[in-house]
Amino acid sequence: MTMKRVAVLTSGGDAPGMNAAIRAVVRTGVARGLEVVGVRQGYSGLIDGQLQPLGTRDVAGILQLGGTMLGSARAPEFQTPEGRDRALRGLGQHRVDGVVVIGGNGSLAGAQALAGTGFPVVGVASTIDNDVNGADITIGVDTALNIALEAIDRLKTTASSHQRAFLVEVMGRNCGYLALAAGVAGGAEVVVIPEVEMSPDAMADELQAAYTRGKRHAIVVVAEGARWDALALARHFEKHRERIGFELRVTTLGHVQRGGAPGAFDRLLATRLGAAAVERLADGESGTYMALARGAVTPLPLQQVLTAKPPPDRELIRLAQLMAR
Ligand code: F6P
Repeated sequence: MTMKRVAVLTSGGDAPGMNAAIRAVVRTGVARGLEVVGVRQGYSGLIDGQLQPLGTRDVAGILQLGGTMLGSARAPEFQTPEGRDRALRGLGQHRVDGVVVIGGNGSLAGAQALAGTGFPVVGVASTIDNDVNGADITIGVDTALNIALEAIDRLKTTASSHQRAFLVEVMGRNCGYLALAAGVAGGAEVVVIPEVEMSPDAMADELQAAYTRGKRHAIVVVAEGARWDALALARHFEKHRERIGFELRVTTLGHVQRGGAPGAFDRLLATRLGAAAVERLADGESGTYMALARGAVTPLPLQQVLTAKPPPDRELIRLAQLMAR
Protein backbone atom coordinates (compact mmCIF):
# COMPACT_ATOMS: atom_id res chain seq x y z
CA MET A 1 0.00 0.00 0.00
CA THR A 2 1.36 3.42 -0.84
CA MET A 3 1.38 5.62 2.19
CA LYS A 4 -0.35 8.98 1.57
CA ARG A 5 -1.42 10.27 4.95
CA VAL A 6 0.21 9.64 8.33
CA ALA A 7 -0.85 10.68 11.82
CA VAL A 8 1.41 11.61 14.71
CA LEU A 9 0.52 11.52 18.40
CA THR A 10 2.23 12.00 21.75
CA SER A 11 1.10 9.84 24.63
CA GLY A 12 1.74 9.17 28.32
CA GLY A 13 3.83 11.49 30.50
CA ASP A 14 5.14 14.34 28.36
CA ALA A 15 8.88 14.78 27.93
CA PRO A 16 10.98 17.78 26.87
CA GLY A 17 11.79 17.19 23.21
CA MET A 18 8.40 15.79 22.17
CA ASN A 19 7.71 18.95 20.19
CA ALA A 20 11.00 18.59 18.36
CA ALA A 21 9.98 15.04 17.45
CA ILE A 22 6.54 16.20 16.17
CA ARG A 23 8.24 18.86 14.07
CA ALA A 24 10.65 16.30 12.63
CA VAL A 25 7.79 13.93 11.74
CA VAL A 26 5.84 16.71 10.02
CA ARG A 27 8.71 18.24 8.08
CA THR A 28 10.27 14.93 7.05
CA GLY A 29 6.86 13.52 6.16
CA VAL A 30 5.98 16.53 4.00
CA ALA A 31 9.40 16.34 2.32
CA ARG A 32 8.52 12.73 1.42
CA GLY A 33 5.27 13.89 -0.18
CA LEU A 34 3.05 12.73 2.71
CA GLU A 35 0.15 14.55 4.30
CA VAL A 36 0.57 14.67 8.06
CA VAL A 37 -2.21 14.97 10.63
CA GLY A 38 -1.72 15.59 14.35
CA VAL A 39 -3.82 13.71 16.92
CA ARG A 40 -4.76 15.65 20.04
CA GLN A 41 -4.45 14.14 23.54
CA GLY A 42 -2.75 10.89 22.61
CA TYR A 43 -4.81 7.75 22.11
CA SER A 44 -7.91 9.50 23.53
CA GLY A 45 -7.86 11.81 20.52
CA LEU A 46 -7.55 8.82 18.23
CA ILE A 47 -10.70 7.35 19.81
CA ASP A 48 -12.62 10.67 19.69
CA GLY A 49 -11.42 11.57 16.20
CA GLN A 50 -9.49 14.69 17.28
CA LEU A 51 -7.27 14.90 14.21
CA GLN A 52 -6.04 18.06 12.48
CA PRO A 53 -3.84 18.57 9.42
CA LEU A 54 -0.30 19.71 10.23
CA GLY A 55 1.82 21.54 7.68
CA THR A 56 5.43 22.64 7.95
CA ARG A 57 4.36 26.12 9.17
CA ASP A 58 2.14 24.66 11.88
CA VAL A 59 5.18 23.28 13.66
CA ALA A 60 7.19 26.51 13.45
CA GLY A 61 8.49 27.85 16.75
CA ILE A 62 7.96 24.67 18.78
CA LEU A 63 11.47 23.17 18.64
CA GLN A 64 12.53 24.97 21.81
CA LEU A 65 9.29 24.44 23.75
CA GLY A 66 8.76 21.86 26.47
CA GLY A 67 5.57 19.79 26.70
CA THR A 68 3.77 18.76 23.54
CA MET A 69 1.74 21.02 21.22
CA LEU A 70 -0.57 18.06 20.54
CA GLY A 71 -1.32 17.40 24.19
CA SER A 72 -0.88 14.03 25.81
CA ALA A 73 -2.93 11.64 27.91
CA ARG A 74 -2.94 8.24 29.52
CA ALA A 75 -5.90 6.52 27.84
CA PRO A 76 -7.11 3.37 29.61
CA GLU A 77 -9.90 3.04 27.01
CA PHE A 78 -7.31 2.32 24.34
CA GLN A 79 -6.24 -0.76 26.29
CA THR A 80 -9.60 -2.38 25.49
CA PRO A 81 -10.42 -4.01 22.12
CA GLU A 82 -13.51 -1.73 21.88
CA GLY A 83 -11.35 1.39 22.34
CA ARG A 84 -8.90 0.20 19.70
CA ASP A 85 -11.75 -0.58 17.29
CA ARG A 86 -13.08 2.95 17.66
CA ALA A 87 -9.60 4.32 17.07
CA LEU A 88 -9.22 2.18 13.93
CA ARG A 89 -12.61 3.36 12.62
CA GLY A 90 -11.53 6.99 13.20
CA LEU A 91 -8.27 6.40 11.38
CA GLY A 92 -10.23 4.92 8.45
CA GLN A 93 -12.65 7.86 8.36
CA HIS A 94 -9.73 10.30 8.24
CA ARG A 95 -8.03 8.16 5.56
CA VAL A 96 -4.90 7.75 7.67
CA ASP A 97 -2.52 5.06 6.38
CA GLY A 98 -0.03 4.92 9.27
CA VAL A 99 0.74 6.37 12.71
CA VAL A 100 3.86 7.59 14.50
CA VAL A 101 3.47 7.18 18.28
CA ILE A 102 5.82 9.23 20.46
CA GLY A 103 5.95 8.07 24.09
CA GLY A 104 7.25 5.69 26.73
CA ASN A 105 6.49 2.10 27.67
CA GLY A 106 2.69 2.37 28.01
CA SER A 107 2.41 4.31 24.76
CA LEU A 108 4.66 1.89 22.90
CA ALA A 109 2.64 -1.05 24.27
CA GLY A 110 -0.43 0.68 22.77
CA ALA A 111 1.47 1.06 19.50
CA GLN A 112 2.24 -2.65 19.57
CA ALA A 113 -1.46 -3.45 20.11
CA LEU A 114 -2.39 -1.24 17.14
CA ALA A 115 0.33 -2.74 14.95
CA GLY A 116 -1.00 -6.18 15.97
CA THR A 117 -4.28 -5.38 14.18
CA GLY A 118 -2.32 -4.92 10.96
CA PHE A 119 -2.38 -1.11 11.05
CA PRO A 120 1.07 0.38 10.21
CA VAL A 121 2.69 1.96 13.28
CA VAL A 122 6.23 3.10 14.13
CA GLY A 123 7.06 4.38 17.63
CA VAL A 124 9.55 6.88 19.02
CA ALA A 125 11.01 6.21 22.49
CA SER A 126 10.30 9.27 24.61
CA THR A 127 10.11 9.39 28.41
CA ILE A 128 12.14 11.08 31.12
CA ASP A 129 12.28 7.74 33.02
CA ASN A 130 14.75 6.08 30.60
CA ASP A 131 13.05 2.74 31.14
CA VAL A 132 12.40 1.65 27.56
CA ASN A 133 13.96 -1.72 26.93
CA GLY A 134 16.73 -1.50 24.33
CA ALA A 135 17.12 2.29 24.33
CA ASP A 136 20.40 3.80 25.56
CA ILE A 137 18.65 7.05 26.39
CA THR A 138 15.14 8.26 25.58
CA ILE A 139 13.89 11.72 24.66
CA GLY A 140 13.62 14.00 27.71
CA VAL A 141 16.06 12.23 30.02
CA ASP A 142 18.97 14.59 29.50
CA THR A 143 16.86 17.71 30.10
CA ALA A 144 15.17 16.22 33.18
CA LEU A 145 18.57 15.25 34.56
CA ASN A 146 19.91 18.75 34.12
CA ILE A 147 16.92 20.15 35.99
CA ALA A 148 17.54 17.70 38.83
CA LEU A 149 21.21 18.67 38.89
CA GLU A 150 20.46 22.35 39.07
CA ALA A 151 18.23 21.66 42.08
CA ILE A 152 20.85 19.47 43.75
CA ASP A 153 23.60 22.06 43.22
CA ARG A 154 21.39 24.72 44.79
CA LEU A 155 20.37 22.50 47.69
CA LYS A 156 24.00 21.73 48.46
CA THR A 157 24.79 25.35 49.14
CA THR A 158 21.98 25.84 51.64
CA ALA A 159 22.58 22.37 53.10
CA SER A 160 26.23 23.25 53.79
CA SER A 161 25.30 26.45 55.58
CA HIS A 162 23.18 24.52 58.07
CA GLN A 163 25.00 21.18 58.10
CA ARG A 164 21.90 19.42 56.85
CA ALA A 165 21.09 16.34 54.85
CA PHE A 166 18.54 16.69 52.06
CA LEU A 167 16.35 13.94 50.74
CA VAL A 168 15.80 14.91 47.11
CA GLU A 169 13.05 12.92 45.44
CA VAL A 170 13.25 12.61 41.68
CA MET A 171 10.78 11.04 39.25
CA GLY A 172 10.96 7.50 37.95
CA ARG A 173 8.00 5.36 38.86
CA ASN A 174 9.58 1.96 38.49
CA CYS A 175 13.03 2.84 37.33
CA GLY A 176 15.97 4.32 39.23
CA TYR A 177 17.90 5.65 36.25
CA LEU A 178 17.14 9.35 36.85
CA ALA A 179 18.02 9.01 40.53
CA LEU A 180 21.25 7.14 39.83
CA ALA A 181 22.42 9.45 37.10
CA ALA A 182 21.49 12.57 39.09
CA GLY A 183 23.17 11.05 42.14
CA VAL A 184 26.45 10.39 40.35
CA ALA A 185 26.49 13.67 38.41
CA GLY A 186 25.30 15.64 41.44
CA GLY A 187 27.72 14.07 43.94
CA ALA A 188 25.12 12.48 46.22
CA GLU A 189 26.13 10.65 49.39
CA VAL A 190 23.37 8.06 48.97
CA VAL A 191 21.09 7.02 46.09
CA VAL A 192 17.90 5.07 46.77
CA ILE A 193 16.32 3.28 43.78
CA PRO A 194 13.44 0.82 43.34
CA GLU A 195 15.67 -1.90 41.87
CA VAL A 196 17.99 -2.16 44.91
CA GLU A 197 16.49 -2.67 48.34
CA MET A 198 17.95 -0.29 50.94
CA SER A 199 16.77 -0.16 54.54
CA PRO A 200 16.56 3.15 56.44
CA ASP A 201 19.18 1.71 58.79
CA ALA A 202 21.69 1.19 55.99
CA MET A 203 21.03 4.73 54.81
CA ALA A 204 21.45 6.07 58.34
CA ASP A 205 24.83 4.33 58.58
CA GLU A 206 26.00 6.02 55.36
CA LEU A 207 24.85 9.45 56.57
CA GLN A 208 26.31 8.99 60.02
CA ALA A 209 29.64 7.99 58.47
CA ALA A 210 29.58 11.04 56.18
CA TYR A 211 28.84 13.25 59.21
CA THR A 212 31.69 11.71 61.17
CA ARG A 213 34.06 12.22 58.23
CA GLY A 214 33.31 15.92 58.59
CA LYS A 215 31.01 16.49 55.61
CA ARG A 216 29.16 19.80 55.81
CA HIS A 217 26.13 18.45 53.99
CA ALA A 218 24.71 15.24 52.58
CA ILE A 219 22.48 14.66 49.57
CA VAL A 220 20.31 11.58 49.34
CA VAL A 221 18.70 11.18 45.91
CA VAL A 222 15.57 9.05 46.18
CA ALA A 223 13.63 7.68 43.22
CA GLU A 224 9.89 8.18 43.74
CA GLY A 225 9.28 4.47 43.13
CA ALA A 226 11.69 3.26 45.82
CA ARG A 227 10.12 1.18 48.60
CA TRP A 228 11.10 3.90 51.08
CA ASP A 229 10.28 7.14 49.29
CA ALA A 230 11.52 10.50 50.56
CA LEU A 231 8.51 11.27 52.76
CA ALA A 232 8.51 7.81 54.33
CA LEU A 233 12.22 8.14 55.08
CA ALA A 234 11.75 11.60 56.56
CA ARG A 235 8.92 10.37 58.79
CA HIS A 236 11.07 7.46 59.92
CA PHE A 237 14.02 9.68 60.80
CA GLU A 238 11.89 12.23 62.66
CA LYS A 239 11.97 9.71 65.48
CA HIS A 240 15.59 8.64 64.99
CA ARG A 241 17.36 11.92 64.33
CA GLU A 242 20.45 10.83 66.30
CA ARG A 243 20.99 7.96 63.84
CA ILE A 244 22.01 10.25 60.99
CA GLY A 245 23.91 13.12 62.58
CA PHE A 246 22.61 15.76 60.19
CA GLU A 247 19.39 17.70 60.48
CA LEU A 248 17.08 16.52 57.71
CA ARG A 249 15.01 18.30 55.05
CA VAL A 250 13.01 17.00 52.08
CA THR A 251 12.63 18.39 48.57
CA THR A 252 10.38 16.65 46.06
CA LEU A 253 11.18 17.75 42.52
CA GLY A 254 8.15 16.08 40.91
CA HIS A 255 6.90 17.46 37.61
CA VAL A 256 9.39 20.34 37.62
CA GLN A 257 11.73 17.83 35.96
CA ARG A 258 9.33 17.23 33.10
CA GLY A 259 8.58 20.84 32.23
CA GLY A 260 10.51 23.54 30.42
CA ALA A 261 12.69 23.84 27.36
CA PRO A 262 14.52 20.78 26.00
CA GLY A 263 18.31 21.00 25.94
CA ALA A 264 20.48 20.52 22.86
CA PHE A 265 20.81 16.76 23.35
CA ASP A 266 17.05 16.17 23.47
CA ARG A 267 16.32 18.46 20.52
CA LEU A 268 18.85 16.58 18.42
CA LEU A 269 17.75 13.12 19.58
CA ALA A 270 14.08 13.94 19.02
CA THR A 271 14.77 15.34 15.55
CA ARG A 272 16.76 12.24 14.57
CA LEU A 273 14.22 9.75 15.94
CA GLY A 274 11.13 11.59 14.63
CA ALA A 275 12.59 11.88 11.12
CA ALA A 276 13.67 8.23 11.07
CA ALA A 277 10.25 7.05 12.31
CA VAL A 278 8.24 8.70 9.55
CA GLU A 279 10.77 7.69 6.89
CA ARG A 280 10.55 4.05 7.93
CA LEU A 281 6.76 4.22 8.07
CA ALA A 282 6.74 5.64 4.55
CA ASP A 283 9.05 2.81 3.45
CA GLY A 284 6.49 0.26 4.65
CA GLU A 285 7.93 -0.58 8.08
CA SER A 286 5.60 -1.31 11.00
CA GLY A 287 5.76 -2.79 14.50
CA THR A 288 9.03 -1.08 15.42
CA TYR A 289 10.11 1.87 17.54
CA MET A 290 13.02 4.18 16.91
CA ALA A 291 15.56 4.52 19.70
CA LEU A 292 19.17 5.39 20.24
CA ALA A 293 20.69 1.94 20.74
CA ARG A 294 24.45 1.47 21.12
CA GLY A 295 24.83 5.06 20.00
CA ALA A 296 22.95 4.77 16.70
CA VAL A 297 19.39 5.55 15.61
CA THR A 298 17.97 2.04 15.44
CA PRO A 299 14.58 0.41 14.79
CA LEU A 300 13.72 -2.10 17.53
CA PRO A 301 10.73 -4.47 17.59
CA LEU A 302 7.80 -3.05 19.59
CA GLN A 303 7.36 -6.52 21.04
CA GLN A 304 10.62 -5.89 22.92
CA VAL A 305 9.12 -3.19 25.16
CA LEU A 306 6.62 -5.73 26.47
CA THR A 307 9.07 -8.50 27.25
CA ALA A 308 11.53 -6.99 29.73
CA LYS A 309 12.52 -3.91 31.67
CA PRO A 310 16.05 -2.60 31.23
CA PRO A 311 18.27 -3.82 34.08
CA PRO A 312 19.61 -1.23 36.54
CA ASP A 313 22.91 0.29 35.45
CA ARG A 314 25.49 -1.62 37.53
CA GLU A 315 28.30 0.74 36.56
CA LEU A 316 26.36 3.76 37.84
CA ILE A 317 25.42 1.89 41.05
CA ARG A 318 29.10 1.15 41.67
CA LEU A 319 30.17 4.70 40.88
CA ALA A 320 27.47 6.17 43.12
CA GLN A 321 28.94 4.20 46.03
CA LEU A 322 32.58 4.89 45.16
CA MET A 323 32.16 8.61 44.68
CA ALA A 324 30.31 9.10 47.97
CA ARG A 325 33.47 8.64 50.05
O1 F6P B 1 6.48 8.25 33.11
C1 F6P B 1 6.99 9.50 33.35
C2 F6P B 1 6.61 9.98 34.73
O2 F6P B 1 7.06 11.31 34.86
C3 F6P B 1 7.09 9.12 35.90
O3 F6P B 1 8.42 9.40 36.25
C4 F6P B 1 6.10 9.51 36.96
O4 F6P B 1 5.97 8.50 37.91
C5 F6P B 1 4.83 9.67 36.19
O5 F6P B 1 5.19 10.00 34.88
C6 F6P B 1 3.90 10.70 36.75
O6 F6P B 1 2.72 10.64 36.04
P1 F6P B 1 1.64 11.80 36.00
O7 F6P B 1 2.21 12.92 35.17
O8 F6P B 1 0.47 11.16 35.36
O9 F6P B 1 1.43 12.24 37.41
